[in-house]
Amino acid sequence: MGEIYRDVWRRSIEDPEGFWGEAARGIDWYREPTTVLDRSTAPLYQWFSDGELNTCYNAVDRHVERGRGEQTALIYDSPVAGVTSRYTYAELLDQVSRFAGVLGDLGVRKGDRVVIYLPMIPEAVIAMLACARIGAVHSVVFGGFAAHELALRVQDATPRVVVSASCGIEVARVIEYKPLLDAAIEESTHKPEHCVIVQRPQAQASMVEGRDVDWAQAMASASAAPCVPVAATDPLYVLYTSGTTGRPKGVVRDNGGHAVALHWSMANVYGTQPGEVFWAASDVGWVVGHSYIVYAPLLAGCATVLYEGKPVGTPDAGAYWRVIADYGVTTFFTAPTGFRAVKREDPTGSLIGSYDLSSLRYLFLAGERLDPETYSWASEQLTIPVIDHWWQTETGWPIAANLVGLDLMPVKAGSPTVPVPGYDVRIVDEAGVEVEPGVEGLIMIKLPLAPGCTSRVWGDDHKFTEAYLSHTPGYYLTGDGGHFDEDGYLFVMGRVDDVINVAGHRLSTGEIEEIIASHPDVAECAVIGVADDLKGQVPRGLAVLKAGVTRDPATIADELVALVRERLGAVASLRRVDVVAALPKTRSGKVLRKSMRAIADGIDLPVPSTIDNVAALDALRPVLESH
Ligand code: COA
Ligand code: AMP
Repeated sequence: MGEIYRDVWRRSIEDPEGFWGEAARGIDWYREPTTVLDRSTAPLYQWFSDGELNTCYNAVDRHVERGRGEQTALIYDSPVAGVTSRYTYAELLDQVSRFAGVLGDLGVRKGDRVVIYLPMIPEAVIAMLACARIGAVHSVVFGGFAAHELALRVQDATPRVVVSASCGIEVARVIEYKPLLDAAIEESTHKPEHCVIVQRPQAQASMVEGRDVDWAQAMASASAAPCVPVAATDPLYVLYTSGTTGRPKGVVRDNGGHAVALHWSMANVYGTQPGEVFWAASDVGWVVGHSYIVYAPLLAGCATVLYEGKPVGTPDAGAYWRVIADYGVTTFFTAPTGFRAVKREDPTGSLIGSYDLSSLRYLFLAGERLDPETYSWASEQLTIPVIDHWWQTETGWPIAANLVGLDLMPVKAGSPTVPVPGYDVRIVDEAGVEVEPGVEGLIMIKLPLAPGCTSRVWGDDHKFTEAYLSHTPGYYLTGDGGHFDEDGYLFVMGRVDDVINVAGHRLSTGEIEEIIASHPDVAECAVIGVADDLKGQVPRGLAVLKAGVTRDPATIADELVALVRERLGAVASLRRVDVVAALPKTRSGKVLRKSMRAIADGIDLPVPSTIDNVAALDALRPVLESH
């Protein structure tokens, strides 16, 4: 077992041109690439550099042209809005090409940016594909982000148009988006020329005369726009993600490598065939949503499910099972935190038996480490293979997985199994030297990265090299730590930087710190991610007040929690900030976040010899140990 995998993986590394050249035949090109891997700009490699294609054509039009017009492409299921609907490929083509016409009428041209700030409604998928159709670059912003976060992205992406809605719905709570959008545009020095607004029945957005356009009205009079050929290396989208600094980084995804890799992944990683139903219970605002709600299932000619609801509370912990049964889902993908939420409410899985889950072949989990307990629970309840797989926004598709479509390997709980073809994963120490199996280190990917992976940060030509390629020349720094075992299984143990994972959402402690530090009473602060039974990790803040501040520390702490919610969004899940006398630091002034995190998580970690103020760390122990 594993021999087929090993041969395929070896070939992908030894002969990337041959391997990915073959995979590229799964995509329709206006101009077939003659160069598969352009090494001339190394370490920034380019895939299919002289190819021309259109991602929307490959995701929609070609299926209609080849007889899938009446097959379901998109299933929308919203327990929060009480709506379900289906779009065939022909209907999706009609909507997408007409919205592409709307964008064109508003002046959007190839290369222009369009920011999409929408809840999980079909218009989000339609708007993304419409951008791809005319070669515009979309930048989707997660609906749980507050106005300030949206403003940062509008400022950086400088969109000509923003597409948004009157509201999102969080279980029973209607969240008005339009005031957030208006505040973000007010804050940003870049002003989009137009906003297209989907008016939902749950809230009516007030429109700005001359700037705002009603989605439904615009669509009623729109004419269809054709697909525009783009270079394989032209950007399809920019997706902002949290890095180690206070500012999110715009990960740029190209068209060609992305289409080839995602199409290849559907059959080989996910074992899913055209016509089958794929459900990624994520959000279009995250990379999982981009790749596996929108692009990959459609590139492969599958039906994709867009679910506007939660694993629990909409209405109960049987939501996953209901959707799988209602639509005959074959492949289900979500984050472990969703399963922990279900397990917490229905520990014995009593609701599972009420649904026919016979269509379901695989459960894929990603977004955070799959803890062995959640793995065991899911496997026992569902009695199908439960596949942990590891990836990140920067790669856009899995780096390590159990490739069920190629060669299903025995599962080892706690491991996402093996590197996916195209990824040469290595473990190195701090000095950049490779370590033996069993030894923990930094997880790196030897260049070139697989097709589909980013090699550019929007608006900053040096950032990618600086942030990802400078640690060890010739290797990409993933930011995760882990090890290989003797059988070549990879174990990903967690981030080695200041990125945290909260309910499968990636956040930067640096970004939260910047917000806390902006409070007039705060002298300095630190934010750490601490273990949480449901969300995997949650942030905790520690703040030192300026000398002379006499206000009640508890009031200030509450203000800090509220400030983070207001500026970053509720999704930060910051519930607790402690006002403390001092932060423990090294002699060079670096805050000892790792030591504080270890204390909060009850891990016995030696106090670093470089510590300057042991007393400050000791004074924090009771604060950190209390939950
Ligand atoms: N718009 C507005 N607010 C949002 C939002 C959105 N799109 N998404 C989340 N929020 C809000 C929530 O309402 C919540 O607000 P509250 O503090 O007022 O309760 C807050 O942000 C935190 O949300 P979340 O972290 O999602 O916690 P939760 O307690 O509401 O739900 C889970 C917990 C586990 C059920 C939920 O996190 C979940 O479904 N996770 C799966 C995540 C996932 O699929 N990630 C994709 C990676 S593959
Ligand atoms: P994101 O860019 O939001 O997809 O987050 C990527 C980060 O999530 C990775 O760098 C990991 O830290 C974490 N992650 C994602 N999937 C896994 C997994 N299967 N196992 C462990 N960590 C994971």
